[in-house]
Amino acid sequence: MASWSVARLTVPLWLCLLGCLCDQNVYPSVGTLFVHKMDAQDYQQHFLNKSGRPPSITFRANLMGFPDLPGWLRYTQRSPWHSGYLYGSPTKPGKHVIELTVYNRNSFEIFREKIIFHIITATDVPPLYEAEFLISNVDVEEMLPPEARHNFQVPLQDIWHTQRLSVINVTSALDKGGRVPLPLPGLKEGVFVKVGSVVPFPECLYETQKPQIQQQCKEGKRPVLCPGLLANDFNIDWCNVTLVDESGPSPSPPSLEPLEWDAEFNPPSDTLGETDYMPDYLLTMLLPILIALLLCILLTYIMCCRREGVQKRDAESSELQLVHQQSIFSNTEELRHMASNRDVPRPLSTLPMFNARTGQRTSPMDLSGDSARVPLILSQQ
Ligand SMILES: *[C@@H]1O[C@H](CO)[C@@H](O)[C@H](O)[C@H]1NC(C)=O
Ligand SMILES: *[C@@H]1O[C@H](CO)[C@@H](O)[C@H](O)[C@H]1NC(C)=O
Repeated sequence: MASWSVARLTVPLWLCLLGCLCDQNVYPSVGTLFVHKMDAQDYQQHFLNKSGRPPSITFRANLMGFPDLPGWLRYTQRSPWHSGYLYGSPTKPGKHVIELTVYNRNSFEIFREKIIFHIITATDVPPLYEAEFLISNVDVEEMLPPEARHNFQVPLQDIWHTQRLSVINVTSALDKGGRVPLPLPGLKEGVFVKVGSVVPFPECLYETQKPQIQQQCKEGKRPVLCPGLLANDFNIDWCNVTLVDESGPSPSPPSLEPLEWDAEFNPPSDTLGETDYMPDYLLTMLLPILIALLLCILLTYIMCCRREGVQKRDAESSELQLVHQQSIFSNTEELRHMASNRDVPRPLSTLPMFNARTGQRTSPMDLSGDSARVPLILSQQ
């Protein structure tokens, strides 16, 4: 029993000692490009003892417990025979555990390993001057190996007259709206490389922002600036140079002077964005409130005052009806009273007073007997 548990403990240890890929610790720092290479050959070695020839390998990386990578970290691999890269520019310190799954495309074996990112705060002062170049003759994987970045950086440092230059970010042009190149030799997707320094830009970089150069770019010409950079293999597109000057509102004289003869390098000021929202506010808030108030008042008037009027009229008409009914009632009462004692002379209105045929006039008073039986109109004999 004891030997079994010991064996179980020792197996992973043994695997690790045999050059297996254990948890790796890496230490990127905030604001600087970090590149982690997953060497295809190393991982091929891992599978080699099982199948005879080096297999093709793909990777999948995700943040432990999440389906994707943290926002700053990107993954790329050109083909299953190329090395993979995890790269990016961390934005804040912290710790990430990245789970890497390695697939053998021939035998469909997989294995997992962890890469622990300990992101440290930058020791350097943050760069105040940032320049982004578009290098049109490379793919992003070609720019990620340290040698390539070194080859780009050294001539630039000579022009910039400083060693304090760092690569901040590398982005494929495809991520910034570039087009996928035709699969022809020599056609590359292009890479944006952002560098930063605490030293102001050299003169020749300011020239890229000049109106004449921008005009040439619009006309389709490809101007060539900073001749010192021509020696290296990188084809810099001088129409796509972006300069960011974060040195504050009072720039030092060398940076102020070039900015003066540059009409187009005008960062928008905050005051431009200020607009007077008062009329809009009045229109959108007060107008509906006023209309609602008016309607309210109107409704109140109709409900209270007008209704009283209606009631008053109702009262008047019901009074009239009452009088009417009373008069009918009293008339009926009188008729009933008269009908109950018939010997009382009949009402004058019910007596024949004038015979239309004979022209005889009868005095209503000299009727005798039951005058009710006397036909009103004599039968025609
Ligand atoms: C680096 O580039 C990527 C892609 O363009 C962008 O999302 C990211 O914010 C950049 N990071 C820095 C620190 O500039
Ligand atoms: C480079 O700049 C040109 C002109 O300034 C522009 O038309 C083109 O879209 C830019 N290319 C990229 C990849 O941004």
